[in-house]
This record gives sequence, C-alpha cells and structure tokens, in this order.
Amino acid sequence: MSRTAREGYTGSGPGAITPDGCAVELYRRLPAGDEPGIIERAVPTGASILELGSGTGRITHPLVERGFTVTAVDESRQMLEGVHGARTVCTPIETLRLDARFDVVLLASFLVHAAGPGVREGLLRTCRRHVADEGRVLIQREGAGRHENLPREREIDGGLIRVVSSEPVRPGVRSVHVEYLFPDARWTQTFLSCPLTDEAFENALAQAGLAVDAYLTDNRTWVRALPVTR
Ligand SMILES: C[S@@+](CC[C@H](N)C(=O)[O-])C[C@H]1O[C@@H](n2cnc3c(N)ncnc32)[C@H](O)[C@@H]1O
Repeated sequence: MSRTAREGYTGSGPGAITPDGCAVELYRRLPAGDEPGIIERAVPTGASILELGSGTGRITHPLVERGFTVTAVDESRQMLEGVHGARTVCTPIETLRLDARFDVVLLASFLVHAAGPGVREGLLRTCRRHVADEGRVLIQREGAGRHENLPREREIDGGLIRVVSSEPVRPGVRSVHVEYLFPDARWTQTFLSCPLTDEAFENALAQAGLAVDAYLTDNRTWVRALPVTR
C-alpha cells in the first residue's frame, strides 16, 4: 500500500520515506537495543505476537529468533520488505481487522502519542480487538522530560541521533524534529507528539477497553495492559 504523508509528519534523506516521516534505510541500520529483552520478560514463552508499526523488523527479528510467532503490521510496503521470518500485513493500524486474536499485541515506538483525529483511539482499539481474552498488550510510551532540555544527542552504532526541537503547534500537540547523522548519510524526521500524563494515558486505555497491569521499566515507558472483559 502506498500512502501519502500524514499531516504534520515529514522526513528527508536517502531512500523511501514512510507516511509518518521515517526513513526506511535508516531503520534498516538501527540496532535493536534492549527492547526485545523487555518484551521477552513480559510475555509467555513462544507467544503469538501482533507487532503494530514493525518497520523493517528491527524488533521483529530478535523476537522471531527467541521463538515467538510474529505478525508484523505496517502501512509502508517498503518497510515490510525488510521483514523476514514473520507474516506481514500492509495496512494502517487503525483499520486493521484480522480474523485472529493474539497472546500479545505490541504497540511500540511511541505510536500511542500519535496525533490526528481519532488516531490514538484507533490504534488502541486495534490493540483491544486483536488481543486474546487472556492476552496482554505491551505499549512503549514517552518518558518524563522527553520534550525538555533540547537539543539532546546520543550516539548509536556509528551515528548520532539529535532531537533538535519540540515546539507546541496546538493545544496538547507538539512538533518534534530529529536528525540522524551518519558518516555516509543524513536523515531527518518531523513528527507530531501528544504528551500524555499517567492519568491521560490510563484514561485513553480505559476508553479502548484496556487497563494497566504493570509499568515494566523504572522510567515507566514500557507498559503491560490487559483487556477489560465484561
Ligand atoms: C518509528 S518507526 C519504528 C519501526 C519499528 N517499530 C522499530 O522500532 O524499528 C514507526 C513505524 O510505524 C509505521 N506506522 C506509523 N504509524 C502507523 C499507522 N498508523 N499504521 C501503520 N503503520 C504505521 C511507520 O510506517 C514506521 O514503519
């Protein structure tokens, strides 16, 4: 599926750019970091995982290697071309309707902060629709202070990630600009982010029929939620 850019989201640099401004070639080279370990510790061994916004498989591949069965969803076909060892589904997450439910639904990469009319609600309802009654939803959210003390830099596998700025664009919505600098390439991404207090986050989950089970990391960025069954 080929889609146009989402409003407020842009990217630049070599190769394909997704509707939310991500560079496909950049995500091919970013390392997995500690995310697969956090996920593995929070879910049953060998679980079926629906990964929403999988990109090129940066997290998918370590999960497959650890024995999980992964279905990877992304609206960018170019991103999904990099995924191997997992079923792929090319669609916006908000409209996903698979005839299956999963032990685990994964909504990482701060997608829960996405802006746009009904987007967050749509993402969370997709999580709820696809999680088994005894299953769990894992969500990665922004840490405290993420929009403060900018610019901020960190080194990453031969490159540098610089969060340049975060500016308010309308009530509750910020525009964030990030640069990815490597000796052979430079990418940028500008995206929208809706910061969420713990209370607002938990309310958003409740509206979708989900409830926080545990904050999995000290910085409270990784959350395990359970479906509310009536
Ligand atoms: C920041 S990248 C992260 C990719 C991957 N999770 C990772 O950590 O490497 C976000 C990915 O989510 C996809 N994405 C963002 N919003 C989406 C949506 N609403 N529906 C489907 N895919 C989406 C983008 O195309 C992109 O591949």
